[in-house]
Amino acid sequence: MFRMCLRDVATLFTLTTLLKVSIEFPTGAPTSACETMMPGHPGVVPQSSPSPYIIKTNSSSYTKGNPIQVQIIGPGYRGILLESRTFRSTATLGTWLQPVNNTKVLSCPENSRGAMTHSNIILKTQATTYTWMPPETVCPNIIFFIATIAEGYDTYWLGVRSSFIWRDSSVTCSNGTTVPWISSVSVMLLLLLLLLF
Ligand SMILES: *[C@@H]1O[C@H](CO)[C@@H](O)[C@H](O)[C@H]1NC(C)=O
Ligand SMILES: *[C@@H]1O[C@H](CO)[C@@H](O)[C@H](O)[C@H]1NC(C)=O
Repeated sequence: MFRMCLRDVATLFTLTTLLKVSIEFPTGAPTSACETMMPGHPGVVPQSSPSPYIIKTNSSSYTKGNPIQVQIIGPGYRGILLESRTFRSTATLGTWLQPVNNTKVLSCPENSRGAMTHSNIILKTQATTYTWMPPETVCPNIIFFIATIAEGYDTYWLGVRSSFIWRDSSVTCSNGTTVPWISSVSVMLLLLLLLLF
């Protein structure tokens, strides 16, 4: 009798946990999350402890037309929102290729293949790989991968970042997409001089 009760309690506990995990966005983050990267669970705040996850890439530089493989190293996770960005911008860069099992491409405003997210709450491991194609038209000097990773419904880390990925020196940008930093610094100095005198 007692044993049966325990089992029932255990079952109930598992069910509620699964239910909780699956309440918010069981099939992936919504488009509205592209910018904030917040899962949007009411009353659930991101973990303040250091992230147990590392975003690993198979290259530390990018070249147009050369995909980069991205993996999440750490404990198994259920939910993810993964993007490529550069500094001072929330715009997603590049495009995510063929998603693997339990994941899918998320369409973001102005980039229909701008992010990757989970497609269910099945546990993902570092065997789950994401493939990203560098942007065609813009080419920042440095990009990085940034993710929100959910271990479960109420345990997630916000703003997990990869190491910097540098633009390969062979990459040429189409006109007007990046301003070499030397000329931006010169323009700023000139403006400063104008303001001062
Ligand atoms: C990284 O992985 C992608 C996808 O598997 C592959 O196409 C690319 O050549 C790899 N890059 C390096 C530097 O190994
Ligand atoms: C993906 O899922 C399908 C169907 O469940 C399975 O047959 C296939 O082996 C899985 N692929 C990988 C890489 O796990």
